[in-house]
Amino acid sequence: MRKLFLFFIVAVFSLSLSAKEGMWIPTLLEKYNIEEMQEMGFRLTAEDVYSVNQNSLKDAVVIFGRGCTGEMISDQGLLLTNHHCGFSNIQSHSSVEQDYLSDGFWAMSQEEELPNPGLTAKFLDRMVDVSDSVFAGTSGLEGDSLQAKLNENISRIQREAAEDGKFEAVVKPLFYGNQYFLYTYLVFQDVRLVGAPPQAIGKFGGDTDNWMWPRHTGDFSIFRVYANQDNEPAAYATDNVPYRPKKWLPISLDGIQPNDFMMLMGYPGTTQQYLPSHAVELIKNQSNPDRIKIRTTILDIFSKHMAANPKVRIQYASKYARTSNSWKRWKGEIRGLDRLQAVEQKMAFEADFEVWYMQNDTLEETYSPVLPQFEKLYVDLQPYDKAYHYYQEIVFKGIEIFKLADFFPRNDRGWNRMDEDHHELVRKALAIKVTEYFDDYDQETDQELFVELLRMLRNDLDESFLPEELMQMLSRFEDEKLIRKVYAKSVLADPEKLQQIISEFDGKSIAKLQKDPIVELFQALKGYYQRNIELVHQGIQENIKTVQQKYMKGIMLMEKNFQLYPDANFTLRVAYGKVEGYQPRDGVNYRYYTTLEGVMEKYDPEVPDYQVPERLRHLYHAGDFGEYESDGEVPVAYIASIHSTGGNSGSPAINARGQLVGLNFDRCWEGTMSDIMFDPDQCRNIMLDVRYILFIIDKFAGAGYLIDEMELVSE
Ligand code: ARG
Ligand code: ASP
Repeated sequence: MRKLFLFFIVAVFSLSLSAKEGMWIPTLLEKYNIEEMQEMGFRLTAEDVYSVNQNSLKDAVVIFGRGCTGEMISDQGLLLTNHHCGFSNIQSHSSVEQDYLSDGFWAMSQEEELPNPGLTAKFLDRMVDVSDSVFAGTSGLEGDSLQAKLNENISRIQREAAEDGKFEAVVKPLFYGNQYFLYTYLVFQDVRLVGAPPQAIGKFGGDTDNWMWPRHTGDFSIFRVYANQDNEPAAYATDNVPYRPKKWLPISLDGIQPNDFMMLMGYPGTTQQYLPSHAVELIKNQSNPDRIKIRTTILDIFSKHMAANPKVRIQYASKYARTSNSWKRWKGEIRGLDRLQAVEQKMAFEADFEVWYMQNDTLEETYSPVLPQFEKLYVDLQPYDKAYHYYQEIVFKGIEIFKLADFFPRNDRGWNRMDEDHHELVRKALAIKVTEYFDDYDQETDQELFVELLRMLRNDLDESFLPEELMQMLSRFEDEKLIRKVYAKSVLADPEKLQQIISEFDGKSIAKLQKDPIVELFQALKGYYQRNIELVHQGIQENIKTVQQKYMKGIMLMEKNFQLYPDANFTLRVAYGKVEGYQPRDGVNYRYYTTLEGVMEKYDPEVPDYQVPERLRHLYHAGDFGEYESDGEVPVAYIASIHSTGGNSGSPAINARGQLVGLNFDRCWEGTMSDIMFDPDQCRNIMLDVRYILFIIDKFAGAGYLIDEMELVSE
């Protein structure tokens, strides 16, 4: 009976690897995917997507900034990405007098485009499987000596591939280190802001609608990549010229039909598809609930103070967005994993794995330790993982004054070794950091966080992670009145006093700062965490990694007749599926697209998340939609069954003919467990319809000259 039951589940598990699941390696499409892609409607070849011999789609796709994707949409380096990806750059050009966040920004000529120090666009030159060179000379090695040899090989490969600084070269592990790929990038450093809609379009729906369908967020912004006279990467210079890319995406006005083939190219950040059941259980039953609980407290406190004070509302807007983004995703993830019975599915797969390695002695010898090792390691990890997340969320991310405490040197040793020039640099850097810190800081809010979060730390964490001396220190901060006094006395809470100290900062100030009660508490917590939690946590994780690598190798052998895709690791991938709605709950059927009509339905002048700019309302009422309408309506967003994750924001959504029809920016909430387990019924990515982007640029912003630059096509 048991066997039969397991067999049933295993069969379901394998079947659930649906056509649409996966983030595939562009160089392997020919081998693994192109046939299926073409069956689904794709009309191009694998060479058209990725080629070393000719310009291909991959030449139009870039890493935008640190964690997003972008794409070339004109022969003059015009780059399209999300509003939330360009957010900090748009913000950095904004002030109360010139509020580009609220009003939007449109350069009406290239002279008006705004430089963004530090922002880069990286073009992939090539990717190659370098596993053989990475593993060269490693056979027989183990542990540290193995790692040392691998590192040596990787450094050499990267050094050679960089061609004296021409490229940024990175070797990354795939399949948990069972394979290695080299990636070389051309890094452009002069990337200028061209246009962004007002927040009431680009962030319409705010955190309320984040991760949700139906969606109406016009989440896009436009930049331009600049190069030197030879069309090469160069630091910002006024005489740089627009980059002429090898490839840019033609834009289709033909729109989107249900069941259309749809493909994303981009840089998905992290997924964990091959975890054992123990890991999924830990995430679902402990780390997600813990982090949700802590962040619920943080968000409640933020909301209260934001509602009471308009200044705080602005100061904490992006902190709120940052904190709530993962909070909401974790909730969706738990729900999705439960619904999929993910833990049970993993257990069934593990039973299958056992049956597989039992087939011969060599396999058994190699792979039989894996599952028991996992079991033991995850039991060991569990308490440390709890402590790790509590300290991370509360001490290092939650209570803000602790971040300030962390800016300052911990002792005067380093200080005394520096010369006066360096001292001056440190003072300057500290002064800037502290000013920035206080720009977005509200003491009342932080005091409440301090009280509530430390109370949670004391109440929830096992005492073995809060030794007697820490408890004693913490008990001094139990009383709210007392905390007010502590804040009142602390130099950290007084920007002027603090800047004064910084301006004459020296070894003595360090000693004095150490005596501040908040600094003292923070350093005690941090010191304890580093010595007793972090090290052990890391150690167990390292061991888990070793076992996971072996497990992965086994899975690859066992499933050698199936195509497996490596977990996302922020390298270029291709994912595909089709345009389709879904049924999130009993009796609810979601259509695959939304329109401007829905923007107006949500419009509520009283609700900050649902403002609609007057001009957009006017266009709507006048029915002034230009060539961007479809059956009298302006399409806004649409969904497809494509496997995507964080980092895919800004990815081009490409139709069967290789043309841009959408811009990826999010996923639907019911499918957020796709980072761990994909469900073709529930997992949908959310894209902007490119016609909405063009409508906003042309009709709303009056920046039609940008459209002239693009290559609009229609069949
Ligand atoms: N959920 C999307 C992603 O993970 C968008 C996040 C930005 N928007 C927001 N309201 N916080 O990046
Ligand atoms: N919004 C995410 C991003 O920034 C995309 C996702 O998680 O689906 O990449």
